[in-house]
Amino acid sequence: MKVYNIAIDGPSGAGKSTVAKILAGRLGIMYLDTGALYRAVGLKAMRCGWDENDEKVAALLEDTDVSVRFENGLQKVYLDGEDVTEAIRLGGVSEYGSRFSALPSVRRALLGMQRKAASEASCVLDGRDIGTCVLPDAEYKFFLTASVDNRAKRRYEELKNKGQSVTLEKVREDIVARDERDTNRPVAPLRKADDAIEINSDDMSADEVAERMIGYIRK
Ligand code: DC
Repeated sequence: MKVYNIAIDGPSGAGKSTVAKILAGRLGIMYLDTGALYRAVGLKAMRCGWDENDEKVAALLEDTDVSVRFENGLQKVYLDGEDVTEAIRLGGVSEYGSRFSALPSVRRALLGMQRKAASEASCVLDGRDIGTCVLPDAEYKFFLTASVDNRAKRRYEELKNKGQSVTLEKVREDIVARDERDTNRPVAPLRKADDAIEINSDDMSADEVAERMIGYIRK
């Protein structure tokens, strides 16, 4: 069967990864969480105290190995050979991921990997620039949104369930700061592709969103 790709872009906490996992499971295709790649670079930057200097980071990336492997259908992320799948979800990694994702050198380094994965097997990719930059010719494109309050509440519950000590106010602040950075960076900013279908998930469960997407895909 022909390889096809589904792009799901949108701001933090809109439910992209939950929906993408359901969709990939229902369609029997792969799911690539592209934010995890930026988080891995962010983790390295955080651990090594990198400056946000594009030239310096370009050189440091020469000695940085970010890769993904699929084990039992689950995406594992490796940084210089270490499994960082859990570590990239902790502490301040979101902020570092967002800050360093604004650098052209970082986006360049991760672009080929995303395109290669998408060309090898049908997959759902979620991120910020999949429909606009990574796969402008993706067969299906969605832009998932929700209000800041709902996104903050969802992210807060998710972090709390993982045992992290956070407050709703801090989570909301972080989301607003990330939206601002991801939307206003000059390279590959978060933006809806002209041909993407926008879905607001405020009053919908993840299953309902996935169902709606499948409806569009089958059409
Ligand atoms: O989806 P996420 O929250 O795990 O992503 C972490 C950061 O990575 C996000 O703040 C912006 C960046 N990112 C990006 O710039 N482009 C993507 N395709 C995916 C994520």
